[in-house]
Amino acid sequence: MVICRAENYDSMSRKAAIVIASQIITKPDSVLGLATGSTPVGTYRYLTEFSRKSDLDWSRITTFNLDEYQGVSPENPHSYHYFMKANLFDQINIQKSNTYLPDGMDPDAHRACERYDTMIRESGGMDLQLLGLGRNGHIGFNEPGGCFAKDTHCVNLSRSTIDANTRFFDSRDDVPKRAYTMGINTIMRAKKIILLVSGKEKADILQKVVCGPVTPEVPASILQMHGDVTVIADKEALCEV
Ligand code: F6R
Repeated sequence: MVICRAENYDSMSRKAAIVIASQIITKPDSVLGLATGSTPVGTYRYLTEFSRKSDLDWSRITTFNLDEYQGVSPENPHSYHYFMKANLFDQINIQKSNTYLPDGMDPDAHRACERYDTMIRESGGMDLQLLGLGRNGHIGFNEPGGCFAKDTHCVNLSRSTIDANTRFFDSRDDVPKRAYTMGINTIMRAKKIILLVSGKEKADILQKVVCGPVTPEVPASILQMHGDVTVIADKEALCEV
């Protein structure tokens, strides 16, 4: 695991965008795994800026997002589809037909998740996977206590994740309780992984992820077993490492 210490959120975001940009430049038909949430917003802003300056060509890039809420349509501003369009896809020259997220509107979870894994496999798999870190150690929506050996599947979100996501909704009751997510297996098959972490409130969990035992109680700890992981984190998040 390589740990890259950034001065602050902005510097973390810029470093991550540079890594992703070099992936796109060196392999213009890369398959990228992308994340939503607050953490990658700055990275997407820098990638948008690099693209606007026309250094970055996304026309042959394919993307797969980690997760999507079940029962939330792509047009719903709370969907991850919507988030990705607003924060990245609408700002760059990617072909929308090459951007994939799990189909949250398919009520048949098994079918939706199996289809997603088939599409990922047929694309050749992720060259680079971007991850954020949940306050409880989740990656994607792989919650503590789950099983490492899973491909894309349907999860019941944990109480702490629902609490954390309430900030994006009018009330806690409005937060979806289930989601389709890439599993740990899917994530671990990515050739290269970038884990982004920012803020003091994640210092304790990041210490466990990087230095603690590998355990399903801290899902991201499995990343210690991957051969090519770079943690890009700001000083506050790294203050206990
Ligand atoms: C998002 C995702 C989640 C988030 C995590 C951190 O697609 O899969 O694992 O990365 O919940 O969220 P933020 O960045 O909002 O703290």
